[in-house]
Amino acid sequence: MKKIILVFALSVVSLGFGQGNTHTQVAGKFEGLAMTPPMGWNSWNTFGTSIDEKLVKETADIMVSSGMAAAGYNYIVLDDGWMTRERDINGDLIPDPVKFPNGMKAVIDYVHSKGLKFGLYNCAGTQTCAGYPGTRGYEYQDARFYAKLGIDFLKYDWCNTQGITAKEAYTTMSNALKTAGKPIIFSLCEWGDNKPWEWGKPVGNLWRISGDIYPCFDCEYKHEEGNWSSWGFMKIVEMRKDIRKYSGPDHWNDFDMMEVGNEMNDTEDKSHFSMWCMMASPLVAGNDFRKMSKETLAILTNKELIAVDQDKLGIQGFKYSAEDGLEVWVKPLSDGNWAVTFLNRSEVAKKINFDWKKHTIKDADFGYEANFSTTIFKLKDLWKNKEAGNTKKNFTADIAPHDVIALRLIP
Ligand code: GLA
Repeated sequence: MKKIILVFALSVVSLGFGQGNTHTQVAGKFEGLAMTPPMGWNSWNTFGTSIDEKLVKETADIMVSSGMAAAGYNYIVLDDGWMTRERDINGDLIPDPVKFPNGMKAVIDYVHSKGLKFGLYNCAGTQTCAGYPGTRGYEYQDARFYAKLGIDFLKYDWCNTQGITAKEAYTTMSNALKTAGKPIIFSLCEWGDNKPWEWGKPVGNLWRISGDIYPCFDCEYKHEEGNWSSWGFMKIVEMRKDIRKYSGPDHWNDFDMMEVGNEMNDTEDKSHFSMWCMMASPLVAGNDFRKMSKETLAILTNKELIAVDQDKLGIQGFKYSAEDGLEVWVKPLSDGNWAVTFLNRSEVAKKINFDWKKHTIKDADFGYEANFSTTIFKLKDLWKNKEAGNTKKNFTADIAPHDVIALRLIP
């Protein structure tokens, strides 16, 4: 009898601080929700906290009518700024009634009615980064709130977290979501400060690996206030190219929301998109769909590159070589295919003359190898969407500064 009472006491534990509730805790993330890198749209990069019902509905409409949804983008995620500054008297979060006059449920129902999925943002700390109520001490209550609303994705940030440890805080929220019972992708956003790739696999489906992205090729943007920087897309890739073995199906290294269509030119946007696909990063657009140029749309919906990102092996690519500003990035794909991307990291035009036969590409982390002396591969140019010869001949091309040439190699 004693034993039974002890087992019962251990399985029903009082969780959260000051919530006055007792729950049966279920541990571990929802498995299998992100077997390929999640794709969607997030409000933050373009809109900050200036978000509302109209923006969500228009974005959802265009996501479908433009072909973005057909290309695979299916999550609409509202980032910081969706709540009021205080919780209600029961401690529940309140969607801002000015921004969302019909409530959040109406917005979510609309997104769902379009065949899309919906996500929200909060923070592990006492307040979000923009000063709205954080989840600390309300983990189980907020998880029930999200489950009841019917959201599909939660991005969980790391501001105002003095005195708590990341692994514990994210584990608590992960368990809270699981306990609430509605399958929700859990997106960790603690900027890579506490190496989430080392402990995040049972906790979440993806984790940010760096501070915020900045719409530039390779710059560091130092913020005037506080001691932090935002990073050009190649800075993020370079910073985290060596943690590839931690990424894979249902536990992705998240290189951040994209800046395609924001402040870079189309050449740089093409490179940015190619590199996100080479890294098997989640593909979350961060631009204003209502003002999207046809070039931006074409970049974001490049089916061949998306197939590289979404390849079922789920392997993050790596830098094979770099010489005089010309880099070669490679990614093993299923069925013995490879993606090979030439990137001109320099400020001057370059000539590529790549003699395949002199190279054997070895992926030591995952055990793949491409030996061009023993296997001939057909080449497909993924931006031109056409055949580009085979590996018997040298690959030769001119490549502009900051441009890419992305190939699929088919044995
Ligand atoms: C942090 C995150 C961003 C965004 C903002 C919102 O900086 O890294 O992606 O969510 O907070 O305040």
